[in-house]
Formats: sequence, structure tokens, C-alpha cells
Amino acid sequence: TMADHLRKYESLFTLTPQRMRMIVEAFKETLELGLEKPEQVVPMIPTYVFGWPTGKETGDFLAVDLGGTNLRVCLVTLQGEGKFEMTQTKYRLTEEQKQEDGQKLFDFCAECLKTFVTTNLEDGTLKEGDTLPLGFTFSYPCFQEKIDHGQLIRWTKGFGAPNTEGRDVAAMFRESLRKHNVPVELTALINDTTGTLIASSYVNPRTKIAVIFGTGCNAAYMEQVKDIPKIKQLGIDPDAEMAINCEWGAFDSFEHEHLPRTKYDIIIDEQSNKPGEQAFEKLISGRYLGEILRLVICELIDDGVLFLGQETYKIEIAYALDTAFLSLMESDPTEELLMIIGIFTHFFALETTLAERQFFRALAKLVGRRAARLSACGIAAIVSKMNYLEEGCAVGADGSLYNKYPGFADRVHEGLQDVFGDKGRNIVTYHAEDGSGVGSAIIAAMTKVRKDAGL
Ligand code: BG6
Ligand code: GLC
Repeated sequence: TMADHLRKYESLFTLTPQRMRMIVEAFKETLELGLEKPEQVVPMIPTYVFGWPTGKETGDFLAVDLGGTNLRVCLVTLQGEGKFEMTQTKYRLTEEQKQEDGQKLFDFCAECLKTFVTTNLEDGTLKEGDTLPLGFTFSYPCFQEKIDHGQLIRWTKGFGAPNTEGRDVAAMFRESLRKHNVPVELTALINDTTGTLIASSYVNPRTKIAVIFGTGCNAAYMEQVKDIPKIKQLGIDPDAEMAINCEWGAFDSFEHEHLPRTKYDIIIDEQSNKPGEQAFEKLISGRYLGEILRLVICELIDDGVLFLGQETYKIEIAYALDTAFLSLMESDPTEELLMIIGIFTHFFALETTLAERQFFRALAKLVGRRAARLSACGIAAIVSKMNYLEEGCAVGADGSLYNKYPGFADRVHEGLQDVFGDKGRNIVTYHAEDGSGVGSAIIAAMTKVRKDAGL
């Protein structure tokens, strides 16, 4: 029966508190190694964002956000006192654009920005000859030696644009901006997690960590320069603070020693454009959760358990089951699970029994819950490394998974309590409002202050 099958998947996808604590320990060591030596698997990237915002930052800033799914262009007006206003336009990126030549991708970003500037700044905000400071949120691992530069270490989240890895993406984007005559000056290159960290602290000063749960998964936090051994020789004030972009999605890549991977996870990895890489992210982020569930379903089709006598080719297409479907399955309020009927008939032309629908919902729960609990391990590793547990802290979180997947935050919190016991309650995640737009504006403002001060 379906119940027997479910038991098997329960044991595959369930993470015990004990196992979680082991993962946290290994994670913590990995974070420390990344701070100590350059070019580690989890690169722990110094971002050259120095310390927290004061909340007094003001001014008009442009931001371009190249994330995993969308390209966004924003105009942010910081009003001080943790307040801001924002206008934005979103463009969907096509799969082709993610794979075409890198310079072409940046040309597209420049064109969108140009259109945005022309339509939104005609009212005289921008005078002839003015240039606006631009923060570029580029959410892929970049090695930085200063704030307005960054060498792409590797693409993640399914991107593969050639002629970009190993190059300075800020310089490439500047080239596109020049070509298209856009009146802006790229002053900061930032990661979405760093932006979220700074933006969340602007509105909630208890924030110590930021996490993105979206197409990808990653975190940033603030570190003491003296605790980043790999940059000690640079002569930066050891008492200064600097944001670290962990790029924790890479945890356990290549070696696969610590994370409990199922055969479905292994298939996803092997069929991805980057086998071996982003091992942690592949178990958690929105890009992959639907695919995990789809692979389980396909296995049961092959075994003759599901959909006997029906045409199943539609659900056999890789990535045909979007993570958004998992959210819907989990939130279906009807006894008959009518939404799940809808998904299967409408998208896959498949008829389901109630028992099967209950099974799919239970599977979605297992996959979603495992993702949240693994995320909790990452947060716990930072908390434990930085000794934030006693005092407690807020964790600014953003991304489609966090914002739209029902119960995701509760499961992360439950996971934190499984790791830390009752004290786990001291660590609370909350939805951070638009990290990449507002964050990059604040960082651009902070950068200007430092520059004016000759730093
Ligand atoms: C947005 C944040 O809400 O989520 C961005 O403002 C972030 O900073 C994005 O990059 C990530 O989510 P997704 O689902 O688009 O990858
Ligand atoms: C991927 C990227 C990382 C980004 C995250 C969330 O992990 O490598 O830079 O922060 O996705 O968007």
C-alpha cells in the first residue's frame, strides 16, 4: 500500500536531532577553514562591506539585482531612521540568457537599466551630466579584493554563461553600461545575502545573520577582521568588522562526507550542469525540491506502483514539477485534496486516487521539512561559531522558499530547537524586506561615506 511506501521515504528523508548536531559540528569546522585559508570549498568571502549601517544613510541610489530567476532594477530613496522608498521593475530571465555569452547577459542588464532610468528619472531627479551611484547585486560567488570588483568563482543555480567564470563581473558590467551610455557609476558589487544582512539590520538592529532561501541558498554575517586569518596580511584594522558572504551552498561539495544524500539527490547532482558542486544547496533550495519529489514519483512509476495504464510522459520530463507545486500540495485545505487533483490533471494529464494524493502531500512534507532542518543546521553553525545563542539574535531571511512555502520558517525554528534545545528559541528568523535593492543602496551609501572620508 501507499502507507508502506511512505514509511520507506520517511526513513530516507528524516533527520534526527543527533544527526543534525553532527552536521552542525562539521559545518562549523568548514566555516572556520574558509576564514583561515583562501580557495576553500566553502569560500567564506570577505565582502569589503565594513560594519553595520547607522540607519542614518540617506540619498537616491540605483540597484540592479541579477538573482536566480529575475532581473530587477530598483530606484531606492533612503530617508534615514530605517525608512526607505522604492520603485522597481522586474524582468524574467530566459533559460537561453542564462547560457549565452556572459557579456551579452550584462548587455541585457544594461539595456533594462537604461530603459528604467529613462522612464523613471525624467522628472528631474537626474540633471544633465549627473551620474547616480549604482549597487550591483550579483548573487553568485565572487572573490573580492575591494567593494566595486569581484571575480566570478563559478556559476551556481543552473547558470552557465560562457566567458564569465574567472573574470571581474563588475568590469564586464561597466563595459556594458558604457556601451549603452547609462548615466550611472557602479560603486558596489554585492551578494544578495550581504545586501539582506545590511538591509535587515537597517530596520532591525538585532539582526546578526541573513539567509536567502530561494532558487539558491546562502548566508552572510558580520565577522571581526582579526578573526579572518586569510586577510590578516592586508593591513586592515583588526578591530574593524566586515560582512562575510559564506557561500554555504557549497558545503560538503565533492567529498559528500557529511550530508545524508538519497539516490534522488545523487541523480539531481549527476544530471546538473555542475556535478559535485553546491551539495548543500541541492538538498535545500527552490531550484531542486520539486525535482526531488518528481524523481521519487518516477521511481514508483517505473516500479509499477503509480499511474498504471496512464500516459506518464509529461511528468517524466526533468524539472517538470516546480517547487511551487510542493507549496500548493502542502497548503491544500480540502479533504479531497482538490488542488492536488488540479495539479496532476492540469499539468500532467494524470488521474490520482485520494490515497495517492495523500501520499504526494506526505512526500512534499518530507522533502520540505528536510530542507528546512538542514537550513537550521547552517544557521546553527554560524550561531555556535559566533556565540550568539545565549544573547539570541534575529536572522533576516528572504527568497521564494522562505516567503511562499507554508510552514518553512516554523520548521527551521523547530530544527534550531532540536539542535540547541530550548535555547534554540533565542534564534528567530523573520522576513527581511527586499535585501538586494535596499541593501545595495545602503551599501552604496556606506561606501560613499568611507570614500569621502578618504578610507
Ligand atoms: C528576493 C530578494 O526576495 O529573493 C533577493 O530580495 C534574492 O535578494 C531573491 O536574491 C532570491 O529568491 P529567488 O527565489 O528569486 O532565488
Ligand atoms: C547561490 C549563490 C549565492 C546566492 C544564493 C542565493 O547559492 O551562489 O551567491 O547568495 O544562491 O541567491
